[in-house]
Amino acid sequence: MKQTLLLLPGDGIGPEVTGAARRIADLVAPDVALEEGLVGGAALDAEGTPLSDETLQRAHKSDAVLLGAVGGPKWATVDRAVRPEMGLLRLRKGLDVFANLRPAYCFEALVDSSSLKRDRVEGLDLMIVRELTSGVYFGEPRGIDTDENGVRRGYDTSVYTAPEIERVTRVAFAIARGRSGRVCSVEKSNVMESGHFWRQEVTALHEIGGEGIELTHMLADACAMELVRQPKQFDVILADNLFGDLLSDEAAMLTGSIGMLPSASLGAEGVPGLFEPVHGSAPDIAGKGYANPCAAILSLEMALRWSLARPDAADRVMHAVAHALKEGARTRDLGGEMSTTEMTDAIIDCL
Ligand code: NAD
Ligand code: IPM
Ligand code: MN
Repeated sequence: MKQTLLLLPGDGIGPEVTGAARRIADLVAPDVALEEGLVGGAALDAEGTPLSDETLQRAHKSDAVLLGAVGGPKWATVDRAVRPEMGLLRLRKGLDVFANLRPAYCFEALVDSSSLKRDRVEGLDLMIVRELTSGVYFGEPRGIDTDENGVRRGYDTSVYTAPEIERVTRVAFAIARGRSGRVCSVEKSNVMESGHFWRQEVTALHEIGGEGIELTHMLADACAMELVRQPKQFDVILADNLFGDLLSDEAAMLTGSIGMLPSASLGAEGVPGLFEPVHGSAPDIAGKGYANPCAAILSLEMALRWSLARPDAADRVMHAVAHALKEGARTRDLGGEMSTTEMTDAIIDCL
């Protein structure tokens, strides 16, 4: 059966960078059927909802989903229940892709593009495993209301069940076994009950099924500091939904630009993976044609590797990006002048 990749370009620079990834997919995996759908503000405008049931069904039926980005100032005042971001959260939850892999590696050619000194980032290669379908993003109760004393308040709930921690920890251990075996689990066990529980559960899982894993724990604030002090001390970082979100944006800057960082969100065996750049819709540069397409192209690389079982095609994409960078191809965020199209052309030349 023919494999299908569902493209959900979304908003802002989303269509620009997924358009670039599409050109690469046509070349390295021409037999994969590419389909397109709507998500985020684009879906809200056209269908009245940021993710329709039909699009979610199509995602379930495809082999992988490649998403651009959602959100933007155009939808700043819409009802919160239908904000573009809700489409993305519904897609993650609907597919139950609970393990979000966010690799941060520094291409040799970009060592001097990082905001950190060369010796801190040269050879950097770490993997953040972020829990993606629970925690404070989804916990109940949540809301904005007035308490019994008539005081207005806004609140969220950070909650994790043991099975939710267990399944993402198992993924982190499995990933680490294919690397150096080191996992650093991150939370705020010093102040949060859910953080204390997280540390207890991860420790217990390590005791019963952590063969070959060297497990350490770090408070999330200290981890944020260590990531810019000595980032190469980390191999796999395991974090909850919120801390994983923050730390992955920080890790992105170590690699030169947020326009470089891809991600893969994986669920149980047989569930299509969701692949997306870590960056957002970049409203400040949307439509100008100079967004960096690398994060989207490298997200395609992850889709080829993790969901479509095409490691050779994935390797080709990875080498082409590295080679193009080595030859000096740079978009503006990397200090160059290339447009999205020119950068993509340069990568295609290297394929
Ligand atoms: P952002 O990542 O969109 O932009 C942050 C900065 O990085 C901007 O200056 C932007 O120009 C730059 N940037 C981002 N991607 C780039 C690229 N590929 N090439 C060059 N420069 C790039 O974050 P933000 O401004 O905080 O958020 C904008 C909107 O995107 C919000 O609505 C937010 O909710 C949404 N968002 C969506 C996703 C997603 O869809 N996965 C992720 C993050 C933010
Ligand atoms: C990300 C984004 C999303 C998140 C938003 C847009 C819902 O910041 O993918 O990192 O917070 O998970
Ligand atoms: Mn984020």
